[in-house]
Amino acid sequence: MTGMKKLFAAVGMSAALLCGCSPVSESDGEMNRFISELMDKMTLHEKLGQLNLPSGGDLTTGPIVDSDLAEMIRREEIGGYFNVKGIDKIRELQRIAVEETRLGIPLVVGADIIHGYQTIFPIPLALSCSWDTAAVRRAAEISAKEGSANGISWTFSPMVDICKDARWGRIAEGNGEDPYLGSVLARAYVRGYQGENLRESEVNIMACLKHFALYGASESGRDYNLTDMSRVRMFNEYFPPYRAAVEAGVGTVMTSFNTVDGIPATANEWLLEDVLRGQWGFGGMVVTDYNSIGEMAVHGVADLKKAGIMAMNAGTDMDMVSGSFLYPMAEALSEGSVLEERIDEACRRVLEMKYKLGLFDNPYKYCDTLRAAKDTYSAENRAEARRIAAETFVLLKNEGRLLPLKPGSRIALIGPMADARNNMCGMWSPTCDPSQHQSLLEGMRAAVGDKAEILYAKGSNVYYDGQTEKGAVGIRPLERGDDRQLLAEAMAVAARADVIIAAVGECADMTGESASRTDIRIPDAQRDLLQALVKTGKPVVLLLFTGRPLELAWESENVPAILNVWFGGSETGAAVGDVLFGETVPSGKLTTTFPRSVGQLPLYYGQVNTGRPDGEPGVFNRYVSNYIDCPNDGLYPFGYGLSYTAFEYGEMKLDAEVLPQGGSITVTVPVKNVGDFDGVETVQLYIRDLYADIARPVKELKGFRRIFLRKGESRDVTFTLTADDLKYYNADLVYKYDAGDFQVMVGPDSRNVQTKTFMAE
Ligand code: NOJ
Repeated sequence: MTGMKKLFAAVGMSAALLCGCSPVSESDGEMNRFISELMDKMTLHEKLGQLNLPSGGDLTTGPIVDSDLAEMIRREEIGGYFNVKGIDKIRELQRIAVEETRLGIPLVVGADIIHGYQTIFPIPLALSCSWDTAAVRRAAEISAKEGSANGISWTFSPMVDICKDARWGRIAEGNGEDPYLGSVLARAYVRGYQGENLRESEVNIMACLKHFALYGASESGRDYNLTDMSRVRMFNEYFPPYRAAVEAGVGTVMTSFNTVDGIPATANEWLLEDVLRGQWGFGGMVVTDYNSIGEMAVHGVADLKKAGIMAMNAGTDMDMVSGSFLYPMAEALSEGSVLEERIDEACRRVLEMKYKLGLFDNPYKYCDTLRAAKDTYSAENRAEARRIAAETFVLLKNEGRLLPLKPGSRIALIGPMADARNNMCGMWSPTCDPSQHQSLLEGMRAAVGDKAEILYAKGSNVYYDGQTEKGAVGIRPLERGDDRQLLAEAMAVAARADVIIAAVGECADMTGESASRTDIRIPDAQRDLLQALVKTGKPVVLLLFTGRPLELAWESENVPAILNVWFGGSETGAAVGDVLFGETVPSGKLTTTFPRSVGQLPLYYGQVNTGRPDGEPGVFNRYVSNYIDCPNDGLYPFGYGLSYTAFEYGEMKLDAEVLPQGGSITVTVPVKNVGDFDGVETVQLYIRDLYADIARPVKELKGFRRIFLRKGESRDVTFTLTADDLKYYNADLVYKYDAGDFQVMVGPDSRNVQTKTFMAE
């Protein structure tokens, strides 16, 4: 008997189901019956095996652990695995599970498909700057399509950790600092990955919301560090995107490495049982992060066995890497420190996940080798990546309308990011193949055709030798050249050009996991290069590569144009060409504040007023909340981004001054494209609660509209406000709003707004 036959025989299913041609009924009742019958046949060892998720060795996403997956499968020690690349290998491992184990239960295959499988989209922080929910959903859909064609059934995404501290390298993986935008985008990711009918679909995969919870608030911006905050802050500022993903139906949740209230999130019963399952109604499966149970010993909480028990009893279902849910859990059960019911519940959730994925209908659903060739890195997927990448670029400065570049110009493309294929995709792109995509230089040359001549020089190393920058020991090797010679070559190339594009910034390994920085400037060698280029007196465009907000004080003063392209993915080159030459008009807006100085961090627009606010921005006053040496606000605010065209905002109007109970207020603002290009504008709406039970932020985003306007066109943009938009959690964690005065603000960014007041009854 084959494994599938054994499985269905075990649960008493009809022959019609054996071929997978007649899917099991959709109802939960049917799923529960199927799983109950299966679990009745399972031994304790088989159940515990389902809770174990080891790492394969093809991709490295944590301290290396070598697992012989095939043997573990035969020993019924695993429910799934991750970090394996290659459809043939994955298919063979599935065959072993299905044919060589007693019950033939299929495996789930995880991967960090964070911003694409092989067609790589911009890093998530960049994607969020598009403010384009459809684009984010589309990127997730294509990621799922390519992942599913390559054996992957489960992605460890979306990462929705709110982050207000640019030192943290993983700021690159999230949607920035705002809980409202973060919630909208969390939903878009989940819908994109999981689609409408996961079980029947071959092109969707299960999403994993992470990292629950508060990982983005790591103290000092240092990775894996503790987080410590009030419940009020958790519920109002950090929890909303997690909750939004749960409400959108995310199938699984990953716990975070950090402690919350001193307890590692993986063993935090309050987080997992009270908040996630109790208050938010999450019914799916909870997996740990990479060895986070094992790390509880180092946290100083418990040794491996005890940590496993704590995690299990707190509501964690599957253990990534540590192995504590396997043999140690069997011992714990016999000693009475965990209940069999809890192990059954965890096992049921893992099996439910497989059922919802349709793996019991067809375990090889994600192993169609023909699809792998057809659906991976296809021309269609790449065209979408190119279009979407161009939407994520943020034009920070454009003095004298230097951009778009004029056709016929001779361009010097200079900098260590200009011809660095390895670096185009940014962090978390281990499944991409850099030999297939183009460098910026190659992509730009192809995109630009005969519109311009592009000269090239590397110009500098990423940073000088002997620096402590961690990039030096990153995953992608950096070729080093002689500093002086590189600079001399750059000067010679610059001398022949009409305009200089300086492609500089962070290299890919400077953000992402374990890439915190205390100095968030452009690395030293590249700063010197940029200064030398500016000194030539030729017009310079700073084409900024970065995975985090950088400190750009000098650049904002001295370089005439700055286009922040983040890490744009595998189609970066072409997309940059599209924007530099005006084929696409930039429309990205920052979702994270760019600080003036690293000393301001953490920094964000939604500050709570102190009792002594800063009345005179930029002027030092004693005894008010300001700095001796720096203004309070950022250099570039949340929501900020320029266009090649210009938008004029008319006067905002409210249709009433009072928001009645159960009613709404309509806010209308006319917006006109008064520039020379058609373009997209993102109109933003903020509110402020003037008096509340607790001090409330001076601004909170509550709506945005992304509109396309032809030149000369104008449109009334409307927003509807209801009491729901005014609600918050007070100190007793009561979700409510206050009758009384509110401000509503509308504008092109969080700094530049017009304000009106209204009263809520
Ligand atoms: C650790 C990371 O924190 C997490 O985001 C990732 O999904 C896992 N490693 C698996 O690679």
